[in-house]
Amino acid sequence: MDVKIIHFQQHGDARGNLVAAELGKELPFPVRRVYYIYGVKGAQRRGFHAHKALNQVLIAIAGSCKILLDNGKEQTVVPLTSPTEGLFIGVDTWREMFDFSEDAVLVSLASAEYDESDYIRDHDAFLKYLEEKNK
Ligand code: TYD
Repeated sequence: MDVKIIHFQQHGDARGNLVAAELGKELPFPVRRVYYIYGVKGAQRRGFHAHKALNQVLIAIAGSCKILLDNGKEQTVVPLTSPTEGLFIGVDTWREMFDFSEDAVLVSLASAEYDESDYIRDHDAFLKYLEEKNK
């Protein structure tokens, strides 16, 4: 599974906390887009897609949520519970986000601009895509 937890250093002092994510240190790719998800109600699940070329790092900068990851062979669930950790998700990885706490803010750092043609939004199509690719 092309995923990895990234641990950010927390610069905490009497004034509060600061976390930095820098290219070549914590970040494995140049960030070209940032978006964030918040105000997710109760049992809502989001995501349900994989990317052909996009790399991402997800950070729950407030609250918590869970990320289901699926590479077509195995599945794993990663809880995101701290602003000091990021989840790198590589290409060809199906993801679903769920169990958002009410206060959750999930930030996504992405390696490219938004491009709908980079999405695979159907799970059967995802499995077919992997099959073709691995022929
Ligand atoms: P969507 O892909 O459904 O979000 P999720 O992956 O959480 O299920 O995106 C919701 C809407 O936001 C959809 O209309 C596309 C739009 N959008 C952008 O305009 N730019 C972006 O960078 C992203 C990620 C989504």
